[in-house]
Amino acid sequence: MSKNKLSFAGASILATLVAMVGAVHGQDVKTDRGEQLYAKNCEACHHVGENIIRPEKTMDRSLKISSKAAFKRFLSRQNGLMPPYLTIVRSDKDLSALYSYVKKLPDLKLTPQSQAAH
Ligand code: HEC
Repeated sequence: MSKNKLSFAGASILATLVAMVGAVHGQDVKTDRGEQLYAKNCEACHHVGENIIRPEKTMDRSLKISSKAAFKRFLSRQNGLMPPYLTIVRSDKDLSALYSYVKKLPDLKLTPQSQAAH
């Protein structure tokens, strides 16, 4: 009896985790355009503004995002192992949406959910 209850709890925790992973990778769950673009193009290497390839080059407090113009210049060319993002750069709407999202990253980092991941 209690064993069944336990595996039920396990199953619902698993379902929650699957839903969370889906929210990170799926595009349809998110409504914020900048967040969608970030999840699709940047999140894999820059989970909440960090850098999995060059850990010392975190991006959430980078000078490259000190202004939208600097951000645009940065995304327009190859930077080490980071590819250029010309499709985003060509759309001012997408660039602005992504820019305002990356500016929010330092605050998003402080949410309990992302802290639990560390
Ligand atoms: C394939 C992995 C990868 C992806 C995907 C990626 N980046 Fe990067 N990013 C890097 C690497 C590696 C660097 C360090 C570049 C270098 O060597 O100078 C970097 C550096 C940066 C920096 C500058 C950090 C500094 O040096 O001050 C910013 C800002 C940045 N990325 C933003 C983004 C954004 C926005 C996206 C999505 C549009 C993105 N990155 C997608 C790998 C990636």
